[in-house]
Amino acid sequence: MSRLLIVSNRLPISISKRIGELRFQRSAGGLATGVGSFYKSYESIWVGWPGITVRKKQQDEREKIVKALQAEKCHPVFLSQYDVRKYYDGFCNNTIWPLFHYFNHYADYDRQFWGVNKRVNETFCNAVVEVAEPGDTIWIHDYQLMLLPQMVREHLPDAKIGFFLHIPFPSYEIFRLLPWRVEILEGLLGADLIGFHTYDYVRHFLSSVRRILGYEHTLGEITAGSRVVRVDMFPMGIDFEQFSDAVGRPEVQEEIRRTRKKNGRRKIILSFDRLDYTKGIPLRLEAFDTFLEKKPEYREKISLIMVAVPSRTSIGLYQALKQQIDEMVGRINGKYGTADWLPIQYFYNFLPFETLIAYYNAADVALVTPLRDGMNLMAKEFIATKVDGKGVLILSEMAGAAQELGEAILVNPNDQEAVVAAIETALTMPEKEQIERNRIMQRRLKRYHIRHWADDFLTRLDDTRKTQQERSEQILTPSIKNQLAADYCTGKNRLILLDYDGTLVPFAAKPEKAVPDSGVRKLLEQLATDPYNDLVIISGRDRKTLDEWFGALDVGIIAEHGVWIRERGEEWRMIEPLSTEWKEEVRPILELYADRTPGAFIEEKDYSLVWHYRKAEPGLGSLRVAELKDDLLHLTSNLNVAVLEGNKVIEIKNAMINKGRAAMTWLSGRTWDFIMAVGDDRTDEDLFEVLPASAYSIKIGHAPSKARFNLASQRQVIPLLRYCIDRDREAVRMPLDGSDKHRRLSLGQH
Ligand code: G6P
Repeated sequence: MSRLLIVSNRLPISISKRIGELRFQRSAGGLATGVGSFYKSYESIWVGWPGITVRKKQQDEREKIVKALQAEKCHPVFLSQYDVRKYYDGFCNNTIWPLFHYFNHYADYDRQFWGVNKRVNETFCNAVVEVAEPGDTIWIHDYQLMLLPQMVREHLPDAKIGFFLHIPFPSYEIFRLLPWRVEILEGLLGADLIGFHTYDYVRHFLSSVRRILGYEHTLGEITAGSRVVRVDMFPMGIDFEQFSDAVGRPEVQEEIRRTRKKNGRRKIILSFDRLDYTKGIPLRLEAFDTFLEKKPEYREKISLIMVAVPSRTSIGLYQALKQQIDEMVGRINGKYGTADWLPIQYFYNFLPFETLIAYYNAADVALVTPLRDGMNLMAKEFIATKVDGKGVLILSEMAGAAQELGEAILVNPNDQEAVVAAIETALTMPEKEQIERNRIMQRRLKRYHIRHWADDFLTRLDDTRKTQQERSEQILTPSIKNQLAADYCTGKNRLILLDYDGTLVPFAAKPEKAVPDSGVRKLLEQLATDPYNDLVIISGRDRKTLDEWFGALDVGIIAEHGVWIRERGEEWRMIEPLSTEWKEEVRPILELYADRTPGAFIEEKDYSLVWHYRKAEPGLGSLRVAELKDDLLHLTSNLNVAVLEGNKVIEIKNAMINKGRAAMTWLSGRTWDFIMAVGDDRTDEDLFEVLPASAYSIKIGHAPSKARFNLASQRQVIPLLRYCIDRDREAVRMPLDGSDKHRRLSLGQH
């Protein structure tokens, strides 16, 4: 088995120093808890920050830490105090964290933070490069290291790299506020597979990539330049048995008894989080206050055990929040407390595992109401400890976990009335119902085990690599290019079929702007005048334009995707008699959609109508296209027309007309010893399909295709054709048998 290299900002063990002694503690938070529970079962190394700053000068201490962590399969990345302030407190937790959790008003867009963040990501990169061995799987985690995938890719181009984001990926509307949005997306796209907890985050990410970088995707597969990157959702699970089995441990049972005894017959509501403003603790306390206010009959009958784990304590916002919570707890306890009842038992510290399990198990209700949370494993852990099935989970809709825990009482944390009502529903829910709901969730959580999550991600990563491999096998490599040129040189009867837009010329904002320049013209002329060649321009454009551009050349032309055909030295003819009556019905719909989509426009050809949206805002364009296709499908079902999707166009034309059928004019009844066809969009697939297996069919770009080969970009087409011509000329200049006199003369003219 290959090694797994886990990379995250924080190691699963945090080191601190008390009275000169190093102390090792389990790290808090979803990432450390989740990944920390299984990483040792792989042959793995975890690269990350140990949570303590040790000066370079204190080499002894550094070595001590390295040694101690080695035993835990961890490799420390040391950061200076300055770095921690600007990168960890700064960019990670004062820019990205608030922004990605929709607290954009808290986000600080500080250039210095950004600069240090880049440098620290480079430090991580150096550590990865130092530790990595060929064949390793590198799995990078979370928002602190979003630049790292691309950095590692630059050093180790062939590395297998996965990335998982443990926090929400916000809507494009929020993400685009970030001044470094381009760099962050490019950084992430260095990975082969990018994972998120929920489909919503996947959606937001894909739309940001499309709108900001302009990369389209099909079913979560992005073609970024020449690489395929896959994006998918992997809802993180928990080590179910670790939590359910722990309940039976004697020390946990003891702790459960103690907690129960302390609270007597009172029902226990549990609140447990890292102390963070995203968790909505003040709002939760307000709701609890209102509940006691409005439902006095519950006073003295319930207790709220509230645990807040200290976190990011050097950041002002967290300090202020701590103070706010302290005050609120004091006020509520003062308002309702009696001589023998403390409404809120508040703990501000790190809980040992056993105590946590005991609280989970002893609690009748868990109140988990974050304002925004990537996943929230705590909700899942609570359910896992309910071995007798009793207990009620109140869960915020804004937590990723809500997608899987639909049997919980789901609430909008901002809706105080709903939270208050949910508390009452939870406290009065019949046991039978509690058990029913929890059993369903438990079954699901057992299936979505943390191991399953990791295996799923890693298998998908391997799959993605295979897809990339398959795609790269189709790439027109230098050796295939050589073979193609060699076959071209030996051919004496050659058919060359070339698409125009996106193949011979790049895509232009306005179709009429894509006029062939002198280079393209000259090249086509050279190809056309070679007596061994039959050159056919095969395009979706109207015949008038094609006539203007290429009419003077000795070439075949196919216009309007196969409606019109002009063979060499002949007149234009229509492939079959066609009608245009359907246009009257279709045109108004296209006009309506063009009006509704700024930038979209209609092109009219003799026998087809085209709706272009290349200039429309990408998100809106693809949305409208989906709607338009749907409308057209209904409208055209009895019209004998076909709706064709090309590159940023929808074309409506007579059914059975396509480039493949038109190309048959050259293919049937004639023999060729060399066939080459180049095209870039869906409409060229019809052509590729009808070619014999030996033909050099070439698709521009990496989308799946019927063509035998892929060429990464349009820019490579002209050089490829030129290469063939040049190789052929050389062969002609030095003929093996002195033949080809006539041809030498004709080629010599150019
Ligand atoms: C969340 C984040 C983690 C982070 C953890 C603890 O779970 O997704 O990346 O490590 O919180 O936060 P801290 O800042 O203490 O590492």
